Amino acid sequence: MTRATGVAHPNIALVKYWEKRDERLILPVAGSLSLTLDAYPTTTTVELDETLDADTFTLNGAAGDETQTGRVTRFLDLVRELAETDTRAHVSSSSDVPTGAGLASSAAGFAALAVSAAAAFGLDLDAPALSRLARRGSGSASRSIVSGYAVWHAGDDEASFAEGVTGPDTRMVVVTVDRSTKAVSSREAMKRTALTSPYHDAWASSTAEILEVALEACRDDDYTRLGRITELHALRMHAHIQSADPPIRYLRAASIAVFDDVERLRAEGIECYATADAGPNVVVLTLPGDAAAVAERLAVHGTTTVVGPGPAASLVSAGAE
Ligand code: DP6
Repeated sequence: MTRATGVAHPNIALVKYWEKRDERLILPVAGSLSLTLDAYPTTTTVELDETLDADTFTLNGAAGDETQTGRVTRFLDLVRELAETDTRAHVSSSSDVPTGAGLASSAAGFAALAVSAAAAFGLDLDAPALSRLARRGSGSASRSIVSGYAVWHAGDDEASFAEGVTGPDTRMVVVTVDRSTKAVSSREAMKRTALTSPYHDAWASSTAEILEVALEACRDDDYTRLGRITELHALRMHAHIQSADPPIRYLRAASIAVFDDVERLRAEGIECYATADAGPNVVVLTLPGDAAAVAERLAVHGTTTVVGPGPAASLVSAGAE
């Protein structure tokens, strides 16, 4: 195969991944749990070109910046190593995930790249192997290989991949309060908390414990328990991030206002729970029947979009020129 196109969707973590115990292999300090969404797909085409001396990368039709292109090249180097070739490639991606605003643009991006690059370079990888590969691009991408709820296992290189789990039927209301790019990338921020936060050890051990409870809630189809854990763990992660030196604050006043309203909605009997990744935007977990009402209520804070559980990353087309 010399040309392949893959598609993947972002995921939102209910139990967060934050910090690595191995930066090169992207092994997390603890496992995490997410829901892959049925919105904001990233579609990526990888085309091998024997005449190139360097990979090229375009995002939504514009040449990628140095950091993006460097990450794509380093990722393709791993694929080239597996495929035992030196051939360079043109990579073009299109995505409507708001880049950098904490909606996991790198998760969908590297999951789509893993699927398309593996096919273009002729590798026949099963889902765990694709998840392990996607993980090397961006940790959270390991989970976007999988549909719906995904648990990403901590462990060594071989054991650290994501796989699907069943859980309660839910919707997510994405509340976009700010579309600007974040000042500190999650990659940088993770390093800073690991080096400077006094809570580092407690964060890692409590995340491992909370993941077990979340998985039990999934097995028991216990929406309330899973929702409580989701909000608790998001706030713990942000507390941990804020404890870095110098501190990093991703949540803005508008984000906090959404958390406040979610608490009010619960007091009114609508069971919903807020979470936020490394950015100001908030994602609210709801029951399917409450999603429209929650979205309407939270629309004062920004754009609201109701999304459901999304599909696994997949190959759209592959073929020789
Ligand atoms: C806050 O997967 O973007 O969204 O592995 O360094 O690429 P790297 O980090 P990334 O971090 C995501 C962090 C998070 C939480 C989560 O998705 O679990």
